[in-house]
Amino acid sequence: MAALCVLGIETSCDETAAAVVRDDRAVLADIVHSQLDEHARFGGVVPELAARAHISRLDRIVARALEKASCSLADLDAVAVTAGPGLAGGLLVGVVTAQALATVHGLPLVAVNHLEAHALTARLTHALPFPYLLLLVSGGHCQLVVVEDVGRYRRLGGTVDDAVGEAFDKVAKMLGLGFPGGPAVERMAARGDPERFSLPRPFVGRPGCDFSFSGLKTAVRQQILSLGRERLDPSRVADLCASFQAAVCASLVDRTRNALRLFREGRSGPAALVVAGGVAANRAIRSALARLAQEEAVRLVVPPPHLCTDNAVMVAWAAIERLGRGMATDSTPLVRTRWPLARGEEEDEASRRAPADQRGSVVDAAADGVAVPAGAATEGASEPAAARANRSASAAGAV
Ligand code: KG4
Ligand code: ZN
Repeated sequence: MAALCVLGIETSCDETAAAVVRDDRAVLADIVHSQLDEHARFGGVVPELAARAHISRLDRIVARALEKASCSLADLDAVAVTAGPGLAGGLLVGVVTAQALATVHGLPLVAVNHLEAHALTARLTHALPFPYLLLLVSGGHCQLVVVEDVGRYRRLGGTVDDAVGEAFDKVAKMLGLGFPGGPAVERMAARGDPERFSLPRPFVGRPGCDFSFSGLKTAVRQQILSLGRERLDPSRVADLCASFQAAVCASLVDRTRNALRLFREGRSGPAALVVAGGVAANRAIRSALARLAQEEAVRLVVPPPHLCTDNAVMVAWAAIERLGRGMATDSTPLVRTRWPLARGEEEDEASRRAPADQRGSVVDAAADGVAVPAGAATEGASEPAAARANRSASAAGAV
């Protein structure tokens, strides 16, 4: 029997991505266009710019993915798309595009939860059995989840304020290190002394698995103010970054240790500790978690960095997992800016506070006083997003 072959589409934040994946774990195409350059000067993702960039690129990216995979839409078994959580405009572009492709070519459409896609990636990369513990650390999310099965998630804890990537981004901004902040802070931290500044280690020693990063971020701000900006030479910046990163590591390790122990209560241990999301690219965090995994005698699984950050491979794979279990497809999916992974559980505080601007590093133009330059008001800006997305979808369908 021929393998199941799925086209995945991801547009929930600032990556426009398309991929073709088979159920035998072959990744036939993996195309990601990051909009970093477009948003960098604003110090975060500008939702309207992101949506416009998705509209202008998605059809070409889908075409490139199909070309790379040497297949046509007729060879596909389904189309999968991130339907949430994320930025409304971007989600709409992806969903309408996918819907048009699926309808025109008579294919089933799978609406994928972005968090589920992150959660299941380790099963693509490491053929991991259930259940396992997932630490999801990205710009918009920070949570510990028991992955019981496809569609069955138990949230053990999450952030009560900022997501961890958001904290990296804000600290980088305060120190003038640019956007995205995580890699910049990590680079500086590598040259710094982690013990030079005494910063709080949020929630360390507390029971439970929740996180908090806003107090740590404020402590960094206070250090900057008490030092005086003029005395912030590269060596002090490096020390602050190293001290901040050490505090983050201590907090992540402490909370994850609690989660592993909670997981084991009354049952055997998880098949692995899986770390996903953009922050999983941080080497200091990976090493700290590797030490924890060794102490706790659990396997640590971290998908390769390009599959930890946002991509469409994970979207296609999540759909393959769902289709393989006969789970429902949906020809008219709703866009869901909020979509908690574990049903009935609370979302991250970050997503509660900013429903439309799901991601931590999203620029709230009104609050931050950021003006979108007039030049960015592209042709067709007054046209409803869905209509533009529809045009984009027909263009992709014609490929
Ligand atoms: O998963 P992702 O690509 O997008 C979201 O879904 O948010 O994660 C992006 C986040 C950003 O906040 C970025 O600063 C952070 O991941 N990040 C890092 C590193 N690389 C990316 N944080 C710490 N260290 C890194 N090396
Ligand atoms: Zn993500």
